[in-house]
Amino acid sequence: MKVPRFTELIGNTPLIDLTKIVGENSAYLYAKCEFMNPGLSLKDRMANYILDIAEAQGKLKRGDVIVCSSSGNTGCSFAILGKIRGYQVVIVTSEKCSIEKQNHIKALNAELIVVDYDSYMSYGTDYAKKNGYFDVDQYNNIYNPEAYYKTLGPEIWKDTNGEITHFVMTGSTFGCISGTARFLKECNPKIQVILADPVSSNIYNYYYSNIKNDLSFNLVSEQYSIIEGAGKSKPTKCLDFSVIDEVIKISDEEAISTCHQLANDEGLLIGGSSGLNVFAAKFIANRLNKKGVVVTILCDSGIKYISKIYNKEFLRKYSAT
Ligand SMILES: Cc1ncc(COP(=O)(O)O)c(C=O)c1O
Repeated sequence: MKVPRFTELIGNTPLIDLTKIVGENSAYLYAKCEFMNPGLSLKDRMANYILDIAEAQGKLKRGDVIVCSSSGNTGCSFAILGKIRGYQVVIVTSEKCSIEKQNHIKALNAELIVVDYDSYMSYGTDYAKKNGYFDVDQYNNIYNPEAYYKTLGPEIWKDTNGEITHFVMTGSTFGCISGTARFLKECNPKIQVILADPVSSNIYNYYYSNIKNDLSFNLVSEQYSIIEGAGKSKPTKCLDFSVIDEVIKISDEEAISTCHQLANDEGLLIGGSSGLNVFAAKFIANRLNKKGVVVTILCDSGIKYISKIYNKEFLRKYSAT
């Protein structure tokens, strides 16, 4: 009898049917339950893959220190996987990271450094460089999109019997959308890929302008968003614009009300970026007929945001600002 260890349960997440929430004659809407990974998010896939590659390349040996800048979920994944593979783990996040994700990282005995939102990405890289530690560098690490190219893309293709017509996903490092979309488009170039961008992000503006590939161009973010793990002020190295066909903007109200609707109607407790994804996917599905098969991602668990998205007092104060 082969019984897996906990961390062998990464990937092969279920695809669930959310067609009930779209219009009667609209497309099918399916969602991949990435919150069912051991670290309760999609990021286990890439943390596992990056560690496999770094070990195979001889870049890591037992006792080494891994440093990772993260909006929280990648930190949880490295806290789980790094520790059990024999490394010390330092996670750098910002004060935007929910207290649940911070506590998750600390409970797994990783060191947590919390800095301000504008500097957490560079802080991690500088900290690793200064001390000679291994820097995950998820925003620029090519093995981040490759992890999804090798796992999530093939799973979605198989789960839908190759019938997927549209893939909808938000992005932060853009590893997931870029790697998954590349695989799906290699299977069927007609598949449309839609990036769902929160109001705080500039990617919509980069995409629909002639500065797409000019990273020296600095745009100022329009608005604050409470959605964690979604959006960026400028494109990352992992973002492959060539596999994205459309970018749509989603507001916090749209994302959060979708989270509440899914908790109420489906018993599904998901994070804000998943609400954002589902709202965007529903919008796309409602533009199509029953020939369409729209797939999106439930990126992480709502358990990570009980104090925010599922806290009426927090939301009341936030909407008053
Ligand atoms: C909750 C959540 N949703 C979505 C994403 C976006 O994934 P990616 O970094 O692959 O673009 C992240 C990444 O941090 C995340 O934590």
